[in-house]
Amino acid sequence: MYEINESMVPPELAVTLDDAKEVAGVFKDLKMRYSAAIKEVSTKLEVLDIEYRLKHDYNPIHHMQSRLKTMDSIIEKIGRKGWPMEVSSIYKITDFAGVRVICNYIDDIYAVESSLLRQDDIKLIRRTDYIKEPKESGYRSLHLVVEVPIFLSDRTYHMPVEIQIRTIAMDTWASLEHELKYKNKENMPGYVAEELKRCARSMAELDATMQRIHKMY
Ligand code: GTP
Ligand code: MG
Repeated sequence: MYEINESMVPPELAVTLDDAKEVAGVFKDLKMRYSAAIKEVSTKLEVLDIEYRLKHDYNPIHHMQSRLKTMDSIIEKIGRKGWPMEVSSIYKITDFAGVRVICNYIDDIYAVESSLLRQDDIKLIRRTDYIKEPKESGYRSLHLVVEVPIFLSDRTYHMPVEIQIRTIAMDTWASLEHELKYKNKENMPGYVAEELKRCARSMAELDATMQRIHKMY
């Protein structure tokens, strides 16, 4: 028999292997369901984009991205929200599945939103308009949490999906700001935060100008 090297064994593990197996099972099942939900939402958006192209000779969606939250990030969020460190808390998370829609112009954001929300099988759970009211950081995007049905072999689930809709300029700002925040783990100095806010405002002006030009031409 293999001799256990004591230095390799963690001093105390909080879970039994049965617990670990249960958590892994829940996570695997949720991943399957949420990836189905992402496919449903993405297909709906792709169809709308194709139809718009046909009708107006123009695509409102520049591109889309999607992601599933990792186990680490779920546990981090449960901790940050102060929820109990229990499997049941995983079910409270509404952004396990995320779809990001990057549009060309501001009006496209609201056009995409209304075309999606008018669909009978889409239920709006939460809407936060960080374009009308940007976050303190300067962050702008339209956030929707919708519920979408997924049809499995023996039952139908209604899964929440977080959709972030933004312009190319808003997306550029958000990804650079995110990188800066994560690169320097400690709190961002005030002067950097102010510069970033100023930059977000200029980019919002740019979006407004581009929108005017688009309407003109
Ligand atoms: P989370 O617990 O982080 O999901 O926050 P929340 O549930 O209060 O939702 P919120 O509406 O703040 O949106 C969260 C998501 O929006 C984040 O995961 C980011 O993708 C994005 N976001 C929100 N605020 C900012 C910000 O200041 N900068 C950047 N880069 N992204 C942001
Ligand atoms: Mg969120």
